[in-house]
Amino acid sequence: MPTDTLPNPGTDPEKTPAGSTGELIRLEQVTKRFGSNTVLDHLDFSVDAGKHVTLIGPSGSGKTTILRLLMTLLKPDEGTITVDGQQLFPASDKQVREVRKKIGMVFQQFNLFPNMTVLRNITEAPVTVLGLSKDEAVERAKGLLDMVGLADKCDAHPAQLSGGQQQRVAIARALAMRPQVLLLDEVTSALDPELVAGVLDVLRDIARSTDITMLCVTHEMNFARDISDQVLMFDSGRIIESGPPEKIFSDPELDRTREFLSAVL
Ligand SMILES: Nc1ncnc2c1ncn2[C@@H]1O[C@H](COP(=O)(O)OP(=O)(O)O)[C@@H](O)[C@H]1O
Ligand SMILES: [Mg+2]
Repeated sequence: MPTDTLPNPGTDPEKTPAGSTGELIRLEQVTKRFGSNTVLDHLDFSVDAGKHVTLIGPSGSGKTTILRLLMTLLKPDEGTITVDGQQLFPASDKQVREVRKKIGMVFQQFNLFPNMTVLRNITEAPVTVLGLSKDEAVERAKGLLDMVGLADKCDAHPAQLSGGQQQRVAIARALAMRPQVLLLDEVTSALDPELVAGVLDVLRDIARSTDITMLCVTHEMNFARDISDQVLMFDSGRIIESGPPEKIFSDPELDRTREFLSAVL
């Protein structure tokens, strides 16, 4: 039987609890402080299931903090975070572990396990966290490696791969958990310029061919324009402007957005 190698949570009945169309992520009145620095100040926003939302804005405006809160790498000081109708914060440790399975993340620095092969990097969490058999995990991993164009690299170690290849493995590793949400934090920023396009092509393919929800921080504005349903412009921890990419990139309302875009475009 052919296995579907793409994560397709929206059409897999086992993966899609009732009611998971509509709002998938909701932050309500979320405040995050580092010491006396209030990075997010009573932030509200939500992302609907299957949508691709891009966060743009100057360095230090709080974009990574939002993704880290969703990954539970950080805890808010105030507010609530809900994913697929289940609270992620505040929540018990058990509930956090459950909700976390719905979320995958790819970082700027690929963070692969250096001592494991490419294949093992991808099969490790599905076996240990999801309880897949080794055979199932390997089959899933091979399908994903094929999708990211690295079917021949199963037995390589990360250090033997280019940055672009490592990042494509990191994307496959995130997808192997069949998350409902994929968080992408400047995933091409650490790459040599000639390696950027290959990674963005993989992400475009995922955006087009799956119904995974994507929340993406990027300075690749053409990519953002291609894949986004909605763009949120951040400044100092607040969303100062939001809208469809055609509007934000071509005819923003605010001078601040215009200035930011002219600096990065
Ligand atoms: N672990 C941390 N400790 C102290 N300050 C932090 C930490 N992480 C982020 N910050 C501060 O929070 C603000 C927002 O950072 P970040 O979310 O990384 O912004 P962005 O991703 O938009 O560049 C910055 O002022 C940054 O210095
Ligand atoms: Mg950042």
